[in-house]
Amino acid sequence: MNILDIIAKKRDKKELTKEEIEYFVKEYTKNNITDYQAAALVMAIYINGMTERETTDLSISMAYSGDVLDLSSLGEVVDKHSTGGVGDKITLILMPIIASLGIPVAKMSGRGLGFTGGTIDKLESIPGYNTNIEEKEFIENVKKIGISLIGQTLNLAPADKKLYALRDTISCTESITLIASSIMSKKIASGANKIVIDVTCGSGAFMKDRKSAEKLASIMTKIGKLANKETVCIITDMNEPVGHAVGNTLEVIEAINILKGKEMPKDIKNIIEELGANMLMLAKKVENIEEGKKKIIENIQNKKAYKKFMELVENQGGDITYIENTEKFPKAKYIIPIQAKKSGKIQKLDAYKIGMMSAYLGAGRIKKEDKIDKEVGFVLNKKVGDKVEKGEILGYIHANDEEKGKEIQNKDIYEIV
Ligand code: URA
Repeated sequence: MNILDIIAKKRDKKELTKEEIEYFVKEYTKNNITDYQAAALVMAIYINGMTERETTDLSISMAYSGDVLDLSSLGEVVDKHSTGGVGDKITLILMPIIASLGIPVAKMSGRGLGFTGGTIDKLESIPGYNTNIEEKEFIENVKKIGISLIGQTLNLAPADKKLYALRDTISCTESITLIASSIMSKKIASGANKIVIDVTCGSGAFMKDRKSAEKLASIMTKIGKLANKETVCIITDMNEPVGHAVGNTLEVIEAINILKGKEMPKDIKNIIEELGANMLMLAKKVENIEEGKKKIIENIQNKKAYKKFMELVENQGGDITYIENTEKFPKAKYIIPIQAKKSGKIQKLDAYKIGMMSAYLGAGRIKKEDKIDKEVGFVLNKKVGDKVEKGEILGYIHANDEEKGKEIQNKDIYEIV
């Protein structure tokens, strides 16, 4: 077999065999195929697409290009994944709820890149919280307290790591086939047998419209099935940021307040109910979705989820006094109000723009190696549909660089009609 024939076959719109896909993934991971050859093949896949069978073979080959975690000693683990967005702190809220309902949570999360945030960066805003834990300790943690949330310490799907970085440099990120295989390879390698995927849809997501989100959801569900992983995809809105806070520490504070039973924004409530109820269904803990939704909210109200979050933070070395009293978290130097420029109704609060501005303030990374500023971001108290008066404070910019903060203050963050 040789790579030139494989590239030519895909260039000519032909279907690749399982063996050809496996050969490419294996040899590229071992650096026996050059980046320019891989780039040519990826571009051919981007343009000509892949059948569902090819996409499944690509996902499984990439999943087995490195370590594959065995979580069978933990019982029925149900994983949760989001295709990414702005202000997405759902994992921080939902996973302690799930663990408090007796379902083991063993989750590896990623870091943010570009305008999207990552759960691991957020967790690291809690002083002392250790995200860098070896496999043995990770599993022990779950056995001990029912939950562990860590970074990707293992060599999971290294082929995806290489291909993902390559796609970024050749404008091949937005391909449903490539996104589906990238996500599913990591999910298959991370060991859970059941998976709920939050397929975000809107300006702040990879999938900008409902039709593409449905297509991505359908392909991932099929790949899951063929890989023996029961997979449920839920499409959620990402046209405006999730909840009120955007930025690492600010999102952790919002998540803690929700777990403490303080006000929960309607969009967050809908997402955690929907994803959570489906996770409970997959774990066979409830008979139907309505019962699942009730149980999810109940464990916030009775503080069981909050207690589980405290246990998680303490067990991973985090300072729980910050959770008890969120005033202890360091704040940005400049907290600048965003005022309504006119009276009316909020028409748009663009998630992509907010994500980009938040990254500009320092909350996100442009390059993988960039250091992030944990304190900066936005608190957007008003959301789409709210009526506002001219001059009213709609939210706050949290900046450590006054000039950048002022520059953003002058932009039309909210569209009011
Ligand atoms: N998330 C992933 O892990 N991979 C993609 O390609 C897109 C989103």
